[in-house]
Amino acid sequence: MDYLKTQGIKSLHGTIKISGAKNASLPLIAMTILAKNSVSIKNLPNVADIKTLLKLLSNLGAKCEFLQDSVTVDTSTLSETKATYDIVKTMRASILVLGPILARFGHCEVSLPGGCAIGQRPIDLHLKALEMMGAVIKIKAGYVQATAPNGLKGCNINFDKITVTGTANIVMAAALAHGVTTITNAAREPEVVQLCEILNENGVHIDGVGTAVLTVQGTNQKLINIKEFSVIPDRIEAGTYLCAGAITKSELTLENVNAKHLGAVIAKLEEMGSTFTITPDTITIHPSQVIKPVKIITQEYPAFPTDMQAQFLALATQADGTSIIEERLFENRFMHVSELQRMGADISLNGNVATVNGKNKLSGTDVMATDLRASSALVLAALVAEGETNIHRIYHLDRGYDSLEQKLQGVGAKITRLKE
Ligand code: UD1
Repeated sequence: MDYLKTQGIKSLHGTIKISGAKNASLPLIAMTILAKNSVSIKNLPNVADIKTLLKLLSNLGAKCEFLQDSVTVDTSTLSETKATYDIVKTMRASILVLGPILARFGHCEVSLPGGCAIGQRPIDLHLKALEMMGAVIKIKAGYVQATAPNGLKGCNINFDKITVTGTANIVMAAALAHGVTTITNAAREPEVVQLCEILNENGVHIDGVGTAVLTVQGTNQKLINIKEFSVIPDRIEAGTYLCAGAITKSELTLENVNAKHLGAVIAKLEEMGSTFTITPDTITIHPSQVIKPVKIITQEYPAFPTDMQAQFLALATQADGTSIIEERLFENRFMHVSELQRMGADISLNGNVATVNGKNKLSGTDVMATDLRASSALVLAALVAEGETNIHRIYHLDRGYDSLEQKLQGVGAKITRLKE
């Protein structure tokens, strides 16, 4: 197993190129199941989750060629319709194949993903919506077994709760369904917007893209032709490096980034004292020498993202004063707190609210990554900790950060990947 050794208290300087968004790439790769042609996708991040999904599609019979930051996926040879436990257990987002496979083949089995470190993460809303579209769903021996021999039917779906992969799954199912599907309380994340835009450009008419009400005109099970496209930049990776600039009080420029997707994150960094220079595809952070405390509530887009909560918690340890961070999406997403406490952070937890009393001097030690974004919070803390920090279990980090240590080395961080 790999770990990261980081030498702290180092200021950074330079430019970081942001990769394509993991959370946009996953539904877009699943979307190739709706295509009759071989689909080329550019600007993919080189991260484990993408390889996991491509492996899942290959196991089902698709032909996938992954080259650096692009892939071609040909699902015309896809013949199996069962996503097995060995893959789904490593990546919950495997559930994204359920909607498109069911819509195309009339049957699909996907292993139940089970709980994960950050909470229960049920898929009941995905299943309920597919049932409303006419699917018969059984849970048997740890698998979701879904059938719709005559295809799915358009209907009105109102999500009780906003779900990102749930919205993506149902949009893909609706794309091949018979008739019109209206999804109310749909997710508005840029990753969902891109999925809808690509479908719209390739023959599936979708109204309301970017709003909470999506109307999808199904193709009556006709597969579509999807032209080559490029994945949007990863707003969470970008937000993480903006936090790296803020916490080390270093000016950093990010390239290949869309500031419009980072509104809530930039607003909070501004409240904490940073200023920004923004162009259509770059962001430069001018950090403040004194970090101000902040109040954050995680919510669905366009509000502050839960995927940036851990990184801001690390940043808040260096603020002059008390910050309050409330997690509203995942009940158990504070596993990084105990590791940050071991580095010297003064954080108290009360249910889903963390109170961070800054400013703390952090000391390097051995810490353990517990989930994807928690890992990057530990990296941020390690950048300013006194001495050396060893971050273990970074396979979590590798799921979603493309070349993190090379990118940080490129701006002057002392960070190395080593084997246990
Ligand atoms: C996606 C992102 C993840 C991000 C999360 C919230 C991907 C691959 N992952 O995860 O990085 O942290 O959005 O922005 O895009 N829920 C239910 N029933 C369901 C589905 C969801 O109760 O059937 C609940 C969840 O437990 C959670 C909330 O709804 O409390 C939002 O979850 P959801 O938006 O579905 O998260 P994911 O799509 O899994």
